[in-house]
Amino acid sequence: MMTDNENLTILGIESSCDETAAAVVRGGREVLSNIISSQIDVHTVYGGVVPEIASRLHCENINGVIRLALRDAGMDFGNIDAIAVTKGPGLVGALLVGVSEAKSLAFALNKPLVGVNHIEGHIAANYITHKDLKPPYVCLVVSGGHTHLAVVKDYRSFELVGRTMDDAAGETFDKVARAVGLGYPGGPKVDKAARDGDPEAIAFPRGEVKDRPYDFTFSGLKSAVLNHINLANMKGETVNVADLTASFQSAVVDSLVGRTVRCASELGIDTVAIAGGVSSNTALRREMAAACEKKHIRCVYPEPVYCTDNAAMIASAGYFAYLGGVRDDESLNAYPNLKLG
Ligand code: KG4
Ligand code: ZN
Repeated sequence: MMTDNENLTILGIESSCDETAAAVVRGGREVLSNIISSQIDVHTVYGGVVPEIASRLHCENINGVIRLALRDAGMDFGNIDAIAVTKGPGLVGALLVGVSEAKSLAFALNKPLVGVNHIEGHIAANYITHKDLKPPYVCLVVSGGHTHLAVVKDYRSFELVGRTMDDAAGETFDKVARAVGLGYPGGPKVDKAARDGDPEAIAFPRGEVKDRPYDFTFSGLKSAVLNHINLANMKGETVNVADLTASFQSAVVDSLVGRTVRCASELGIDTVAIAGGVSSNTALRREMAAACEKKHIRCVYPEPVYCTDNAAMIASAGYFAYLGGVRDDESLNAYPNLKLG
């Protein structure tokens, strides 16, 4: 029996880093279930994600997570039209667990298989929260591994116009959090600590990349923060964590917002989206919305649960890929360095 596009139901599977996730999404935008098994507590002990442990935990949990996703959606495998899985980028051993699982299911159930780029998944999270969102728009993708400024020309057509020259935005948050003893994962902890601080207390640099107005650099900012902490330690002074995190966060947010809004203005695009783990940052959401409003640009971002890694966004991106004719087979592999576009 053929399902029409609006009712096309996709099981999404995500295992690229430290979340084992499965979700059922109808018509690319309606989430019927969204299960995320986070490994954060285990990795916290080591101060970051340990790839071998991540793979083992995905292996242990993936069947249960998929079973829960089907149960929450009130479905069984018979109701699923296609299986979408993250094929990259990410940790190779972690990705392989999801890819092997999806291939086995597609083979055993005789269902279509769609490999999905994780970054396209983050972007697609916006379609879940904003049912009317359509390309073209400019999307800032900010996660633990990526900082990309992309023009989304169509659901599956992306032009990368800017990227980081060094650390990703989320990575910078994680490193600063570790340096001030807030622990892992740093982003949400910095976000919280910064609420009580003065963003103008310390003048941290806003890095520029010569002749590349849409590219990002965070290494100078990271060094400046570490120097500030070291200097305070040498002088026997205590660091004001609230002021330091607020000032650091404001420098990152300025860099991200300035380039994104300039890009949309210069290209004459009337909508800006943000995506990825860092897009749940309260200051980034607030400042991006304010800067867009001044330029009469629409600003959208996913609900927080769809900003960080999840499988609903993979099912959504998988839906558009499926409609575009993407069909993978048993040769599908994990692609740890997969690029956008
Ligand atoms: O998208 P994501 O879950 O995984 C990757 O694909 O990398 O992003 C995780 C990153 C981490 O670096 C985490 O610290 C950061 O997103 N993050 C945040 C916040 N929530 C998560 N950064 C700043 N503020 C937040 N509220
Ligand atoms: Zn991610």
